[in-house]
Amino acid sequence: MNEVTLKVRVERKVVEADDICSYELVSADGAPLPAFGAGSHIDVHLRPGLVRQYSLCNPPHEQHRYLICVLRDPASRGGSQAMHDDIQAGMVLQISVPKNHFPIVEAERSLLLAGGIGVTPILCMAEALSAQGAAFEMHYCARAPERTAFRERIACSPYSGQVQFHYDSGDAAQKLDLPALLTGLDRQTHIYLCGPAGFIDHVLATTKAHDWPQGQVHLEYFGAAAAANDGTDQAFDVRLASSGKVFSIPVGSTVLQVLTDAGVFIPASCEQGVCGTCLTRVLDGVPDHRDLYMTEAEQVVNDQFTPCCSRAKSAELLLDL
Ligand code: FES
Repeated sequence: MNEVTLKVRVERKVVEADDICSYELVSADGAPLPAFGAGSHIDVHLRPGLVRQYSLCNPPHEQHRYLICVLRDPASRGGSQAMHDDIQAGMVLQISVPKNHFPIVEAERSLLLAGGIGVTPILCMAEALSAQGAAFEMHYCARAPERTAFRERIACSPYSGQVQFHYDSGDAAQKLDLPALLTGLDRQTHIYLCGPAGFIDHVLATTKAHDWPQGQVHLEYFGAAAAANDGTDQAFDVRLASSGKVFSIPVGSTVLQVLTDAGVFIPASCEQGVCGTCLTRVLDGVPDHRDLYMTEAEQVVNDQFTPCCSRAKSAELLLDL
């Protein structure tokens, strides 16, 4: 993968809340960092073979630093643990330039919904919308105050009056009442949400129940595992269009694993169907999409899939490799 990477130094590592640290990254050579838009993320190369995506959460006009924030996830496959245990102030890291799969669009009004550490891109959006003087409100759902990053930053921000916190540990009256919120909202409002899969599923189901135009609902999953094997997985074959070679993909292995082991290079990063790095064209056959990257509309076309997690509904997939 000939991707442009940047060298950054960890200027500061701060404990933002229980099990949550932020990392301020500055250019290792002192040059301004590439500009980014709200909703952007960077790939952080933690060690060979371990690359993770983190949303930028500092105000998007800043070019002297990138700020990322990481929750220690006990179910981590290495990324969050390495960030918490191994990455310290003063270290130099390799990162990608910012990429944005979650941009904000111009709208009369925006509703920002954050679930837990999914606050990171949402906070960046709040900064951008506030700087533009755009109309928005933000709701930040978290387990408890002590597990809520950036409470003080938000409290001291010019948009603090537009943010409401909702804690699982608090009383019922302060919990997010999404149906009531949507009922009172202008139908032109664009909704942005980021958080764990359960949070996103709940918000999506509620917006659908309220007939909210789905083109006005923008989301990014945080730390979501792609759909797991529910016991019905079957082995299937993939055929490479270039060589005609056929590889069998057994239950329990991914296309990415099998092809990588066979020396077929596919760029990959998150390996959980979130980032889209491994997206591969499908020339024939029907993929069984397990990713969270493509929209439903993109998935039904069946002309591409994510080999890091998706499988096949047909006996064979012909891949443009
Ligand atoms: S590597 Fe991220 S979606 Fe496949």
